[in-house]
Amino acid sequence: MKITFYGHASLGIEVGGKHIIVDPYISANPKASHINIGTLKADYILITHAHGDHILDVEAIAKRTNAVIVSNAEIAGYYSQKGFQSHPMNHGGSWNFDFGKLKYVNAIHSSSFPDGSYGGNPGGFVIEGEHKNVYIAGDTALTMDMQLIPMRTKLDLAILPIGDNFTMDVEEAIVASDFLDCDKILGYHYDTFGYIEIDHEDAIRKFFNKGKDLMLLEIGNSIEL
Ligand code: NI
Ligand code: MN
Repeated sequence: MKITFYGHASLGIEVGGKHIIVDPYISANPKASHINIGTLKADYILITHAHGDHILDVEAIAKRTNAVIVSNAEIAGYYSQKGFQSHPMNHGGSWNFDFGKLKYVNAIHSSSFPDGSYGGNPGGFVIEGEHKNVYIAGDTALTMDMQLIPMRTKLDLAILPIGDNFTMDVEEAIVASDFLDCDKILGYHYDTFGYIEIDHEDAIRKFFNKGKDLMLLEIGNSIEL
């Protein structure tokens, strides 16, 4: 499994020979100006919730690639009404896709579209790939529900928001990693706006002091699991 950070909460995941894009917010992010959404491959687009900083480039990428949009039922329905392919899910449900098993899990946040349309309730995803398992938290507060995930899935990586203000901060993400029984963390949802700027070295040190590995990728860089 290969995971590429496209800035903010945007990810590319290669798993099972398929290309997945998660929460694409790239074309309006000045920090991601070197990423061209016109060349990103996508068989699927996963959306955690409907906020503008998670859906901005969904339509452009889906139009070009014909990717299947996977999200909660309300977000999937919003896009299928616009003529896009979609797969609706809801909290606690899993589906066996051709890339692996995907579960939509709880998040504590909100989820309206920028135009005010109802975006259902926000979530995160657990991907069980051929060899590796990943949790993508989405925008969320620290929640006890995270303890449910390792009861079903042994995680190899947890992708957690760490920017504070709209989501958990670094110290709560450390607690989350305990709940998730996963000491390898990719941080996201930080630095994009003034509200969520973080001190990278301090964040990495705080995780290190608890015996955990926080990775902060340069935009466009990847990790291989
Ligand atoms: Ni949000
Ligand atoms: Mn967000």
